[in-house]
Amino acid sequence: MSHGPASPLTARPAGPLTGEAHVPGDKSISHRSLILGAMAVGETRVTGLLEGQDVLDTGKAMQAFGAQVEKQGDTWIVQGVGVGGLLEPKDVIDCGNSGTGVRLLMGAAATHGFSVTYTGDASLRKRPMARVTDPLALFGARAYGRSGGRLPMTIVGAASPVPARYATPVASAQIKSAVLLAGLNAPGETVVIEREATRDHSERMLRGFGAEVDVQQTNEGHVITLVGQPELRPQTIQVPRDPSSAAFPVCAALIVPGSDVLVPNIGLNPTRAGLFQTLKDMGADLTYENLREEGGEPVADLRARFSPDMQGIEVPPDRAASMIDEYPILSVVAAHATGTTVMRGVSELRVKECDRIDAMAVGLRACGITVRDGADWWEVDGRGPGDMPGGATVAVHLDHRIAMSFLVAGMAANKGITVDDATPIATSFPIFKALMGDLGADFG
Ligand code: S3P
Repeated sequence: MSHGPASPLTARPAGPLTGEAHVPGDKSISHRSLILGAMAVGETRVTGLLEGQDVLDTGKAMQAFGAQVEKQGDTWIVQGVGVGGLLEPKDVIDCGNSGTGVRLLMGAAATHGFSVTYTGDASLRKRPMARVTDPLALFGARAYGRSGGRLPMTIVGAASPVPARYATPVASAQIKSAVLLAGLNAPGETVVIEREATRDHSERMLRGFGAEVDVQQTNEGHVITLVGQPELRPQTIQVPRDPSSAAFPVCAALIVPGSDVLVPNIGLNPTRAGLFQTLKDMGADLTYENLREEGGEPVADLRARFSPDMQGIEVPPDRAASMIDEYPILSVVAAHATGTTVMRGVSELRVKECDRIDAMAVGLRACGITVRDGADWWEVDGRGPGDMPGGATVAVHLDHRIAMSFLVAGMAANKGITVDDATPIATSFPIFKALMGDLGADFG
């Protein structure tokens, strides 16, 4: 969906944050529920779906590809068309702000004998797509986009696809997932090799829908093999709450004096939970309560309390994939720690919804924090608890996580912080403002 007028929002210094924060469903799992539901034969039922704009745009796209997607009460119902059964959309597919949406859809449709044109908002039209269209070419699909492999882009699908074997050059679950989804409608075995493990929702969910997916750890890395042309069986899915959204109330509680916040039912899949380990390594008062297993995944209630004794650390670069979306909010926490926090091996942050290293560095500097950065690293000098000057207006560049990170920063700064546009927050966390307000935030 195209982007409406910008709407600035200010976070003023807040009193203690207290209470429970029920964050929305997981964005990655929500996208995959709709896409895989559409590729199964019959009715998939999804509760807890994230109703953020990114996911709603994927739902509209699946309708354009011939599936029925509708909400009845609290349940989203997808009538799937089966593997190989997607239809040619009658119009351009607009994925709005969502890199996950467009890249997964490109994969799912690429092994069908029709053409699809994709576009998105000003942020998505800047993002690189060759990382997905290169492996899709191995199946026989051809891509015609703007210079630099940018959207709008037309992909001419392969009418007689062949299976692919592809080693991903960057750690990216989107690339891996696009290849696996393309492999669904190719005969034989499609293989993806990733050097570092990235979020494994596609593998888990494909298995849940009845596909044969084998994962081996070898010298090359994780070797994921999918047997093509399965009949996917419809599923009943309860989407777990999003750890990437939980990060915002958790981090706010750590830096706002006197806070004590419970964030219930958060999935702690090891491919997603890197931030929480990093915060613990920094000395955060963050505990996992009621740790249990649900649907084969660890789940806990997160309890975060104000943590005045956090220390800056060097974040292990091999943890990057498991917390890739959480570096912006980590940098805000780092500003309240004692000493420097060093983040290396994070060049991917430069090609997210915006250049997240640059957006955070510029905004934090305007708030009185010293930040150094290079192509694939950045460092934040902590000023200790409660000593961020704040008082700035920062640009969020159509990036929901930059907006939420600076609003959390404003809650704990000496002077409020204004984001130039809060509307992108609706892509992933539409209830952010209300939820933070219920905990004690002062936004206006
Ligand atoms: C996602 C993968 C990550 C992440 C994004 C969601 C996914 O992107 O940043 O928010 O659902 O597969 P990359 O695969 O580009 O790292």
